[in-house]
Amino acid sequence: MKEKLFMQTILVTGGAGFIGSNFIRHTLKIRPQYRIVNLDALTYAGNAANLDDVGQQMPERYRFVHGAIGDAEAIEQLLEEEKPTGIFHFAAESHVDRSIEGPMAFVETNVTGTCRLLAACHKIWEQWGRTEDFRFLHVSTDEVYGSLGATGYFTEETSYDPSSPYSASKAASDHFVRAWQRTYDFPAMITNCSNNYGPYQFPEKLIPLMILNLMEKKPLPVYGDGQNVRDWLYVIDHCEALLAVFEKGVPGETYNIGGGAERKNIDVVHRLCGILDQRLDRTGSQKSEGLIEFVADRPGHDRRYAIDAGKIQQALGWQPRFQFEEALTKTVDWYIDHPEWIADVRSGQYRKWIETNYARR
Ligand code: NAD
Ligand code: TYD
Repeated sequence: MKEKLFMQTILVTGGAGFIGSNFIRHTLKIRPQYRIVNLDALTYAGNAANLDDVGQQMPERYRFVHGAIGDAEAIEQLLEEEKPTGIFHFAAESHVDRSIEGPMAFVETNVTGTCRLLAACHKIWEQWGRTEDFRFLHVSTDEVYGSLGATGYFTEETSYDPSSPYSASKAASDHFVRAWQRTYDFPAMITNCSNNYGPYQFPEKLIPLMILNLMEKKPLPVYGDGQNVRDWLYVIDHCEALLAVFEKGVPGETYNIGGGAERKNIDVVHRLCGILDQRLDRTGSQKSEGLIEFVADRPGHDRRYAIDAGKIQQALGWQPRFQFEEALTKTVDWYIDHPEWIADVRSGQYRKWIETNYARR
C-alpha cells in the first residue's frame, strides 16, 4: 500500500467486542493517520463503554455506529458517507460453547452476515472504480484447521477441518472471502490467529472466566482432563499483526498469527491461581487451587492448537512482543483494577449503554 499523508478513515466491524475494542484503542494511539468508524450490533458480547474514554478524548477520530453487518443497505450508505480506505472485519459470534448450544446464530452472523457485508463492500468498491488502495481484512481463527496431535503446527497450507459449529461457520466465512477475492478480484486478505487474551475480554472464555471466578472464590471448571493445549496470543500483539497485514500484506493472501506460547489449560489455571493468590494475599488454606473442578468435557473438544507464524514473520516482519506469563499477570491486574467494568458485566448494566448514550443523539 502507498503511504498516505492525509488522515484515512477505516471501518471496523465488531469494535465493541474484546479484540475490536483493543484494536481501536491501540491503533488510535500508535497510528495518528487513522480515524476509525466502529460498526457494532451490540450483542451480549459488545460493550460500547469499552471505548467511552476514546470517544471522549478524540471525538474527531472515533465514531460509533450501531448496526449489523447483515444490513447491506445501511453498510452501503455508511461506506458512501465515510469512504473508508479499508475494513477490519471482527464482528462475529465468537464462543465455541455458545455455538454448541445454539449454532444458528453463528451461521446467520458469521456466514450470512459476512457474505452480506462482502457483497455491500464489493458493490461500493466497484462504484468507486475499484479503488487501488482499498483493503478488506477478514479476522478469522486457527480453529478452522481442526485439531493437532502432540506435534506439528498449523501453516497457511493446512487443510480446513473444523470441529465446532463456531469453527465451521468461520471456515465457511473464510471460503466466501476467498471466493470474492478470486472471482471479483476484491482486495481481501485473511488472518487466522490463535487464542487471544488481555483486557476487556468477556468472562465466558477460559482466562477471564477463571480470573473472575478466582476473584469471587467460585469453582474453576476445567473441561475433561485439562490437557488440551492452546497457543496464547496477547491481544496487543494480535492488533499489531493485523496492522502489519493491512498495511503491508498482499490481497488474496492468508496470514497465520500465533503467540508462540503453547500451554495446557490446567497449567494456565494453576498459573492464574498463583497470580491471584499473590495479588490478593491468599495463603495457607485460603489458596485458590482447591477451587479447581474437573467437569465434563466439551463435545468435539479440539486437543491442541499451535501456529507456525513463519510467513507473517518473514513476509511482514511481525513477531509477538509479549511474553505469556508477564502478559497474563498484566491481564489479571487489569481485571483487579476495573471492578466497575466487572460489576457492569456481571449485572448486565452494560447492556443499557445504547439507551443512555446513543439513542438520545
Ligand atoms: P467478541 O465476541 O468479544 O466480539 C464480537 C463483537 O461483534 C461484539 O462487539 C458484537 O456486538 C459484535 N457483533 C456480533 N454480531 C454482529 C453483527 N451481526 N453485526 C455487527 N456487530 C456484531 O469477539 P472477539 O473475541 O473480539 O473476536 C473478534 C474476531 O476475532 C471474531 O471474528 C473471532 O472469530 C476472531 N477470533 C477471536 C479469537 C479470540 O481468542 N477471541 C481468536 C481467533 C479469532
Ligand atoms: P475458550 O476460551 O472457550 O476458547 P476456544 O474454545 O476457542 O479455544 O477455551 C479455551 C480452552 O479452555 C479450551 O480447551 C476449552 C477450555 N475451557 C475450560 O476448560 N473451562 C472453561 O470454563 C472454558 C470456558 C474453557
